[in-house]
Amino acid sequence: MTKPNSFFHNLIKPFKFTSSKEEHSEDDIQKLAEQENKIFPYETLVAATNKFSILNKLGEGGFGPVFKGKLSDGREIAVKRLSRRSNQGKTQFINEARLLGRVQHRNVVNLIGYCAHASEKLLVYEYVPRKSLDKLLFKSGKKEELNWKRRFDIISGVGRGLLYLHEDSHNCIIHRDIKASNILLDEKWVPKIADFGLARLFPEDQTHVNTRVAGTNGYLAPEYLMHGHLSVKADVFSYGVLVLELVSGQKNSSFDTNLSAQNLLDWAYRLYKKGRAMEMVDPALGSSIITEQLEMCIKLGLLCTQGDPNLRPTMGRVVVMLSKKPDNMEEPTRPGMPGSRFRRVPRRPSAMFSSGVDDDSNSNSHTCDSSNYGTNNNTTSATSSSTTPSSTATAQVDPRGKRPMKD
Ligand SMILES: Nc1ncnc2c1ncn2[C@@H]1O[C@H](COP(=O)(O)OP(=O)(O)OP(=O)(O)O)[C@@H](O)[C@H]1O
Ligand SMILES: [Mg+2]
Repeated sequence: MTKPNSFFHNLIKPFKFTSSKEEHSEDDIQKLAEQENKIFPYETLVAATNKFSILNKLGEGGFGPVFKGKLSDGREIAVKRLSRRSNQGKTQFINEARLLGRVQHRNVVNLIGYCAHASEKLLVYEYVPRKSLDKLLFKSGKKEELNWKRRFDIISGVGRGLLYLHEDSHNCIIHRDIKASNILLDEKWVPKIADFGLARLFPEDQTHVNTRVAGTNGYLAPEYLMHGHLSVKADVFSYGVLVLELVSGQKNSSFDTNLSAQNLLDWAYRLYKKGRAMEMVDPALGSSIITEQLEMCIKLGLLCTQGDPNLRPTMGRVVVMLSKKPDNMEEPTRPGMPGSRFRRVPRRPSAMFSSGVDDDSNSNSHTCDSSNYGTNNNTTSATSSSTTPSSTATAQVDPRGKRPMKD
């Protein structure tokens, strides 16, 4: 059955970052960006990073290398040099970067500027001195620095940052890649979400959609990993994995299988069901633990990682649960895992994913219905990504937990 054009128009409309007011000519965009003082001359970034010296390199992920730099006014910066596969036009890049530059929250890394020079595209971020959470949480001898209070503050701060991206920023931003290496810590241990909106700088052709869906091992919601269905609930899932990692000090993507469970989520769920959830708590937390908070966070992590996206809480609900003593938290159902199928909850109200999936069915496909996302739209590029064949997506998962590079 063919759907009317207006259906597709409505489906795509909320995913657009730009409103009609933002549709300017190339010259206008350039002028606006200059007025905002966010355009950095290429030479400034070359000088700040000592010619992108290897000694200044902070690391490299799926979007390209990141260099530490220092501006002539003394400000420290982190410069992300986007890989060439972002062959997006200059105007569109500046437009997107301008919009990302407006995203401002205490728990989100500040994009202070950008640069488009010949075929190069660079993003300039505030430098966050304690770097990324993964470099502490998963390293023995380092993880002790993260006592429970710090970990709980990270859980709360990331929750608030994600709520802002989903609901309070000028447009809904689904991060798509929440994980420990994308959480940076400032000198006061305030967590800041990095790399929001980056997916938008890469054109949505099929190859890139597949590559992105392959994403980061261990954090991806099964409906996104298997079928490319993207909604805010995919971020909620990744956030839940992060919460369980902070509680246990274990990395989901390299989980110790001696613990007789498939992965961290499975292990946490089994212990929880046996009333022994506290056994998963990281021994490195020592005497800093606050049992009541830990129990709540384990339940929260399990609620966020449930197989059925409809059952996962919104980030709004997560923030409420974290901010007061919750006495009415739901009971978590089985966690979602790659290849897992969820049982449809009987008599639930109109579902976000109308799915024929249950444990007795051979079918594993969901259909994404945009009309159920509500006014505060929660989906980006679901139209193209939902066509991603699961075999292609899963085949490209990088065992190092990084998005594969495609240049
Ligand atoms: N603003 C920043 N301040 C300080 N360090 C940063 C900043 N941004 C990134 N880094 C460091 O650079 C490293 C590489 O970052 P990058 O985002 O490229 O890789 P990643 O997070 O491992 O993978 P992905 O591309 O999937 O996000 C990070 O691990 C982090 O330690
Ligand atoms: Mg990153």
